[in-house]
Amino acid sequence: MIEMDVAVIGTGYVGLVTGACLAEKGHRVHCIDIDESRVQQLNNAISPIYEEGIEELLKNGINNDNLFFTTDYKEGLHQKDIVFLAVGTPESEDGSADLSYLYKASETMASYVDRDVTVVIKSTVPVGTGEQIGDKLNSLVSPGVNIRMASNPEFLRQGTAVYDTFHADRIVVGANHPDAQKQLEELYHSFQLPIVVTDIRSAEMIKYTANSFLAMKISFINEVANLSEKLGANIESVTEGIGMDKRIGSSFLNAGIGFGGSCFPKDTKAMVQIAESVNMPLSLIEKVISVNEKQREILVDKVKSRFTSLKGLEVAILGLSFKPNTDDMREAASISIIRKLVDDGVKVTAYDPVAMERAKQILPEQVNYTNSIEEAIKGKQATLIVTEWDQIKDFPLDKYVELMTSPVIMDGRNCFDMKEVQKHKIEYHSIGRKTINNLS
Ligand code: UDX
Repeated sequence: MIEMDVAVIGTGYVGLVTGACLAEKGHRVHCIDIDESRVQQLNNAISPIYEEGIEELLKNGINNDNLFFTTDYKEGLHQKDIVFLAVGTPESEDGSADLSYLYKASETMASYVDRDVTVVIKSTVPVGTGEQIGDKLNSLVSPGVNIRMASNPEFLRQGTAVYDTFHADRIVVGANHPDAQKQLEELYHSFQLPIVVTDIRSAEMIKYTANSFLAMKISFINEVANLSEKLGANIESVTEGIGMDKRIGSSFLNAGIGFGGSCFPKDTKAMVQIAESVNMPLSLIEKVISVNEKQREILVDKVKSRFTSLKGLEVAILGLSFKPNTDDMREAASISIIRKLVDDGVKVTAYDPVAMERAKQILPEQVNYTNSIEEAIKGKQATLIVTEWDQIKDFPLDKYVELMTSPVIMDGRNCFDMKEVQKHKIEYHSIGRKTINNLS
């Protein structure tokens, strides 16, 4: 294997996982970040993100002397073969990607690059950005130094990012220069994964297209679920029936209260914005976004049609993070649901296995927090399930009967098997399935 000298700028989600995984494969990796306390933490093998397996990789890399964290661009960029740009590209007010961190990082790096190098954009960026950054870098670096650009988008899911990196379905390498392509193929050789080689613009397009397509699958199945519920069909049977058709596939068709997180909402909006900017509107993706926004309200609608008055109603919310196994609250469905309930005078008690500290900074101050599911549901008139943590899925249904004033469950993630629910004296509403009412 060819061991390479790599720098990764930005130790957020993508940069950190990329750097740690490349080091695990034997490359020498310097990760650069401007945040001093973060760098200090990382040098002690403490991860600032909650991610399975990451701290073990940090320990390995630090002990093997091939993973370093620094705030010093000069040290980090010294004699590198490849530099990854993995800084954030958050959403601007108009929905477009904010590239200011990327411009800043590339301007700073330009002064310290000391030999010909391949610069790889990992951040999700509008089509054309790679070429633009390449022109800018080449105009700023010392005479005689050449920058070759490449695009290498990531498809990691939070919570399984390390696993996803080592077991990716494909690695996308976008390069306009054969040397850049060759270097990236060598870098990833030991991963033994299929590599799709394209030009830079197509690689940038692949990232937005993949995320928008997956978001479209979710909005599609959610609309079908709502219709199935209305017509007395069962969405799980419908999904099984369509998913066995290989042209459709069965993954990413779980109906629920919509998609959240740091990628799908941001990237669908950015793609719409990019399309508008070249006068080529993407009406389908616009619809994917609006269907998702409506889907987030569905549990609140169910509460409103079930209870005559919301004022003073005591409700438990189980799960706050945008999905299980993360403490990330970005675009979590829980935020809009809880805000609406609190506005209507509902008394909300919330529980999440890991996201409560983050949630407290975002949710209305009227929300109460508890340390267990039992405490959350005790004495409540309704329980809303917002995130499908295993702990919540495995919680015995008997307990709802025992602890709640009226065991009404509104399950936004279809956590329970309908046959199992039928055995209990509860009222159970879910998504795309019949309501079960065993209370009377
Ligand atoms: C996603 C993509 O999967 C990843 O490839 C990309 O790089 C970043 O965005 P992530 O945001 O971590 O990853 O989470 P993911 O597991 O894909 O779920 C995203 C959202 O969709 C969650 O809110 C989840 O609850 C929802 N979802 C997912 C569904 O509602 N139904 C499904 O069938 C799948």
